[in-house]
Amino acid sequence: MNWFLWILIGVFIALQPSYIHPDEHFQSLEVLATRIWGIKGSIPWEFTQVHSARSFVPLYIGYWWVFQLHGILSPIWVLRLIRLQNFGLYLLVSRYALNHLMHSGTQAEFVLQSSYIAWCHQSHSFSNSLETLLLLIALSLYNDLICTPYGKHAMAKSAVLSVVIALGIFNRITFPIFLVLPSIVLFVKFYLRSWRSLMVLGFTLLLSALSFIYVDTLIYGCSYWVIAPWNNLKYNLDETNLAQHGLHPRYTHILVNFPQIVGPAVLFLQLPRRSLRGWLSDIPLLSVLSGLVLLSVFKHQELRFLIPLVPLILMSLKFNKYWEIYGVKTWISFNIIMAITMGVLHQGGIVPLLDVMREEPLGVHIWWKTYSPPTWMYSNQRTLYSTTNFVDDVEKVDNIPFSSIHDHVVDLKGSDEKLLNYTLDQFLLQTTNVQLIAPNSIAHRLKSLQDNYQFQSLQSWPIHLDLDHIGQSGKILGISRYSVVRR
Ligand SMILES: *[C@@H]1O[C@H](CO)[C@@H](O)[C@H](O)[C@H]1NC(C)=O
Repeated sequence: MNWFLWILIGVFIALQPSYIHPDEHFQSLEVLATRIWGIKGSIPWEFTQVHSARSFVPLYIGYWWVFQLHGILSPIWVLRLIRLQNFGLYLLVSRYALNHLMHSGTQAEFVLQSSYIAWCHQSHSFSNSLETLLLLIALSLYNDLICTPYGKHAMAKSAVLSVVIALGIFNRITFPIFLVLPSIVLFVKFYLRSWRSLMVLGFTLLLSALSFIYVDTLIYGCSYWVIAPWNNLKYNLDETNLAQHGLHPRYTHILVNFPQIVGPAVLFLQLPRRSLRGWLSDIPLLSVLSGLVLLSVFKHQELRFLIPLVPLILMSLKFNKYWEIYGVKTWISFNIIMAITMGVLHQGGIVPLLDVMREEPLGVHIWWKTYSPPTWMYSNQRTLYSTTNFVDDVEKVDNIPFSSIHDHVVDLKGSDEKLLNYTLDQFLLQTTNVQLIAPNSIAHRLKSLQDNYQFQSLQSWPIHLDLDHIGQSGKILGISRYSVVRR
């Protein structure tokens, strides 16, 4: 009965229009919608032909079918369906992994299904969510091959494993990091004694990689071979490139991100008492160690990089005796609060506003102090997306073509009032059809501009949490769109 409740909550959260991080749109759905629907959007550099640093293969496998429902479903329902699919797949795959990686699993099953990471991050369209699924399947196959090396289907399993690994690498270049220690054990305990399976593994891996390279080359339309993971690796090994995405201290994953993803469970975890032999056969734990240690080497450390580790951490560690008394209650409270924050409220007004606005003729939409609007949800064949640029760390609007006054989406991001003022001024010289979309938390900052402009509220959406501007005014909830006219 209990599991039914957690799944119900998960489905509810998956259906909410919250927006956790721009990559959930721009690294996946935005790219697919522009390709498949032929609409205009904002393509990140990784997916441009010059860089071709991300593979299309995992995206097409994961979401192509949903985009075929264009015309039947509105973009917001496409989004909901994708989130439901991702959550459903997580339930199936984590169940499968529990069966293959653990012997008794009732407690692990409960924490796996009631973690807010499962409800929020796994249901959203991050490449990291797909990475979790591929990692769980790969490790389950590892465990099978190690535990029953003379089993019937070793060769078939090796073939499936290599396809999963290839997909993982083409999905995110960091995928092999999670497999380092488990792979050593797998090699010593199985492949060293089973050369035929090793050959099957190598051969299928090569074949999968070649076919993915072929598909990417076709999709990018290049005259040379596109090896997306290789292009991505070259970029990421250059620290000046990483610096553009923000550098973090090396302890961020361990001291900041890890406690955030497992919450109070961290207080009740204990390492199981085992011999060295026992440790070496614990595949989930070896993967957690590889992931945590090696990802900590890189200086760009975002919380979502760790989400593939969540089910593994929760299934490989044991809880101490206080878990039943205090742990379960704090765990449930923590996850409900985090789920409401990240899965319901966080930047939650952007998608519902877009759903209304895409039905109206689009003039100039200026987004200010919000996460980047997922332009694919305008589902518009003419959208022009423009945004700010930086010159010596100073934000500018040099790249915004102010003469484009139709179907123009302007993303002013976190820029200051002066840039907003200048942008409004330039557009209002040419058109009267200008709308501003801004969170209520910074509504007071529009006052300084009220001598020049009148902001007429057209629509408000209360379910929108703006964590970036907390404490700047009494409000933290809500987002509004205004029609702007000159006084
Ligand atoms: C906004 O821009 C207008 C036109 O350039 C200018 O006259 C006005 O002083 C500016 N207001 C603020 C608050 O900067």
